[in-house]
Amino acid sequence: GTPAAKSKAMVTLTIDGFDVTVPEGTSIMRAAAELGISVPKLCATDSVDAFGSCRLCLVEIEGRNGTPASCTTPVAPGIKVQTQTGKLKTLRKGVMELYISDHPLDCLTCGANGDCELQDMAGAVGLRDVRYEAPKGGELANHFLARNTSGEKNPEWLPKDLSNPYFAYEPSKCIVCSRCVRACEEVQGTFALTISGRGFESRVHAGGKNDSFLTSDCVSCGACVQACPTGTLTEKSVLDIGTPDRAVVTTCAYCGVGCQFKAE
Ligand code: FES
Repeated sequence: GTPAAKSKAMVTLTIDGFDVTVPEGTSIMRAAAELGISVPKLCATDSVDAFGSCRLCLVEIEGRNGTPASCTTPVAPGIKVQTQTGKLKTLRKGVMELYISDHPLDCLTCGANGDCELQDMAGAVGLRDVRYEAPKGGELANHFLARNTSGEKNPEWLPKDLSNPYFAYEPSKCIVCSRCVRACEEVQGTFALTISGRGFESRVHAGGKNDSFLTSDCVSCGACVQACPTGTLTEKSVLDIGTPDRAVVTTCAYCGVGCQFKAE
């Protein structure tokens, strides 16, 4: 016969004053979701493994130092977690401010307008003002934004990659959350995307340095486009005719992502 299923121990903890019991190994973020508490997030999704890069989902745990990421921190018996303290709100707002400081602010004409998690999170954390400016040309030798050197605020953003027939890649809007990279690997089983560089210079590449999406190993499945929380990867049809208003999940063996439609 088949071996007995391993029983998973259950863990009870407290989040924002409410008790919740979840299987051992569950992340604090998921346990909070069980209580209907949604912790701000950008890099975590249900469809790819947690990565802990965006630093928005920070929480406080009584008796522990620091503010761990709730998406990558597992529950533990009896811990008392806070998700909405003043300190956390200040930290999250600071993180969002840094993201927006080097992000194009063309929201009204962006293909992701109204369907952008970065925009939603900026609103959710109450960001209204950005005190920083991104580095200008010369301050970082290989800064990925080709900024003018006159000190003007209007940068010339990195060129778009429009080589793929179905979607556009706009690197200046990338927050390097790695959701596209993880979706490519985990949802599609392709390894077409990588991240290179650090800090302001980090960016997602399709294939090698001189590749485009078209010349890379990308199979155009769309998993990366669906995973992107910003306007970095956008379907060309969305750019042409707007956001789809219907979606179906297909059983087609090609990609497993599903198709979306716009009613005429
Ligand atoms: Fe946890 Fe991004 S959602 S670090």
